[in-house]
Amino acid sequence: MDKRCSRHAAAAGSNVLTLAHVSDPHLARLEDATPAQLLNKRILGYFKWRLQRHGKHDPSIADALVRDIHETDPCHTVITGDITHLGLPAEFRNARRWLERLGCAEKISITPGNHDSYVRTRFSQTFALWLEYMKSDLNFMDESACAGEISSHQSLFPTIRLLGSTALIGLSSSTPSPLHVATGKIGNEQLERLERLFLTLEEMERKRGKLFRIVCLHHPPLEGLVSHRKRLVDGGKLIHILKKHGCHLILHGHAHRHTEAALETSIAKAPVIGAPSATSTEPDAARRSAWFLYCIHVEGKKRDRFSLAVKKRMYHLEKKSFSWAEEADAGGLEPAC
Ligand SMILES: [Fe+2]
Repeated sequence: MDKRCSRHAAAAGSNVLTLAHVSDPHLARLEDATPAQLLNKRILGYFKWRLQRHGKHDPSIADALVRDIHETDPCHTVITGDITHLGLPAEFRNARRWLERLGCAEKISITPGNHDSYVRTRFSQTFALWLEYMKSDLNFMDESACAGEISSHQSLFPTIRLLGSTALIGLSSSTPSPLHVATGKIGNEQLERLERLFLTLEEMERKRGKLFRIVCLHHPPLEGLVSHRKRLVDGGKLIHILKKHGCHLILHGHAHRHTEAALETSIAKAPVIGAPSATSTEPDAARRSAWFLYCIHVEGKKRDRFSLAVKKRMYHLEKKSFSWAEEADAGGLEPAC
């Protein structure tokens, strides 16, 4: 096994799991875009980036984040989407190189965002490059995907990573949307597979004990955290499933700001936490570049009780490095259970 993956293996028998949550780095690489690649919805995104948005993201912060993740050394890292800006094949290749510097695929999970599916693309030129980061420890894929005929990344989801007593469930809300719209959709097929995943988890838990369930996706599942044109269109169906089967924590991105909400589910009142863009240059504390570190402690003789501690690493524009956020900027995050 790769030495860098040793902490992942250690998590299986440990009483604490540390999970880093990174979101929305928007690693744009537009220099090599061909006219043919831009003759669609991308043309607006291209000019908007050139005229306005490029100043709001600094790629050097993505380098600082790699250094900070290495120094903090979490057991696992989840990235909740918008790793690219226009979903260009060159951006997927560039993102792949960044991911390789961030860590080995065994320690990283991805849930794609709307910018990663800006327009329809060929799977082989885009998401296939991230396949190792969308792996699953249990298989809930469609039969066609199982047969090696993957044509859409959505057929790979939901994914599940079993990290000791923690189950990390990934969903994809990444799908192309019309002009001026940044909605997301899980889709009925993926939601059906999510139901099956929860039934399998419940079966597993009867044999091996409880798992701390974390659900990750790009779009916030709750209403009101983003505008109507940026919403998760089938968020209501997802919430119904999550309430019924239960989870302990929900992580998302997309809003480009630190947000906190909660969802009452059948097993816990789950904090719903949104991370800001990892490369944001905004000075405002809620919108400035940051990532979260979740420490999940397993307690009790039967290892069936959990406690959650949340910490925030904020980027300092002048020092050009991350450090622990002051209490006032860290939010009112409280233990989930
Ligand atoms: Fe987004």
